[in-house]
Amino acid sequence: MSALITTRRSTNAERTVCGLLLLVAILSLGITESLAGPREQAKRIHDRLTGVPPSATVLNDLTDLITNDPTGGLYEAAIQAMENPNFYSVTLKNWATPWTNEEQTVFASLNDYTATVIGMVRDSVPFNQLLSADILYIGSDSRLPAYSMDNNEHYVQLEQLGINLKDDLLRVNQSQVTDLPSTATAGVVTSRAAARAFFVDGTNRAMYRFTMLNHLCTDLEQIKDPSRSSDRIRQDVSRSPGGDSRLFFNNCAGCHTGMEPLAQAYAYYDYSYPADDMEAGRIIYTPGEVQPKYLINATVFKDGYVTLNDHWDNYWRTGPNSLLGWDSSLPGSGDGAKSMGEELANSQAFAQCQAKKVFEAVCLRPPGDAADRAQVTSMTNNFKANNYDLKGVFADAAVYCAGE
Ligand code: HEC
Repeated sequence: MSALITTRRSTNAERTVCGLLLLVAILSLGITESLAGPREQAKRIHDRLTGVPPSATVLNDLTDLITNDPTGGLYEAAIQAMENPNFYSVTLKNWATPWTNEEQTVFASLNDYTATVIGMVRDSVPFNQLLSADILYIGSDSRLPAYSMDNNEHYVQLEQLGINLKDDLLRVNQSQVTDLPSTATAGVVTSRAAARAFFVDGTNRAMYRFTMLNHLCTDLEQIKDPSRSSDRIRQDVSRSPGGDSRLFFNNCAGCHTGMEPLAQAYAYYDYSYPADDMEAGRIIYTPGEVQPKYLINATVFKDGYVTLNDHWDNYWRTGPNSLLGWDSSLPGSGDGAKSMGEELANSQAFAQCQAKKVFEAVCLRPPGDAADRAQVTSMTNNFKANNYDLKGVFADAAVYCAGE
């Protein structure tokens, strides 16, 4: 009993000491925060955007920018900090890499998808073209093997040779270096890396799901809406899974009603690979000819929808998912991946998702309180007003998280 009491006492004492230490830590943090002068802000901006401390000269330059212009200096300093090549080869590469594989890992080689994101940011290409443009970035260094549709060697070498991505990425048309006609290109969606990750096997619904997840920050589970028409759901989806048609209406239909008429845009694409080597495959495009993967398991529900072409319709323009903020100047239907990519990338959800992802990358935490959320809204608005220039979004975030 007495031993028990002793234990309790010492625990309480420990708690008090811990509490005091915590208080001191919080207070001193608060003090450093509130005392962050131009020099500390300059350093923080540089660290957050590039992952490395600035050189003495750069630190002086950034500090001067902030001191000399109390209103715009922080933003100017952020834009200046992006001159460091690490912004491209580390920050942007790590930012984009998880979108290019199903595991969403950052530990993957550079590829045509990540290089294209990096190049588009560098050149201030309007980022709402990400899912539709005839665009690709390759390395310009003469030591590199040529871009190949059949492997990723060009980008592996680009990285291994330590080539400066800020200076040596070259913008080309995707249709110039691949056998895709320009009309069949859809930005990073038709990159080799995305095809390898999301057109491989399956039914091409994965390309749609991961594009929504990575670029509208929306997983289908969050936006299930079973109240649309189910007339486009393919034959492979059972209408009474486990013998229960209620399950179809309450669960399966929530995703499949809206997803199917959009994923139809990819009906002519596949990733084709030799039986023994999935990495050695390439994207294929068969205009006018629906890929067999759209027609598999036809006996599961033979009255289901039979895909005849790549015509897409956005059923989610009405109902609860109109909240994703579709662009009213676009028709909401079309043929093929390019126009479907425009539909997605001109939504409010797309713009806001990019702002949120930038906030997380620069502030090293998700937006939390009301002030953070207001900041993401303001970054989203600036992004759109600034013709979808992502550099400005990175600068806005760096300023917000630079300390007072
Ligand atoms: C949260 C959204 C969602 C719900 C709910 C849902 N699905 Fe799916 N379904 C998907 C996605 C996304 C894919 C593509 C998966 C992939 O290839 O990565 C898919 C693929 C499929 C496929 C193709 C085969 C496969 O596994 O790729 C079938 C068949 C299918 N779903 C049937 C159903 C049935 C039956 C239900 C209800 C019991 C259901 N789904 C519920 C989103 C959903």
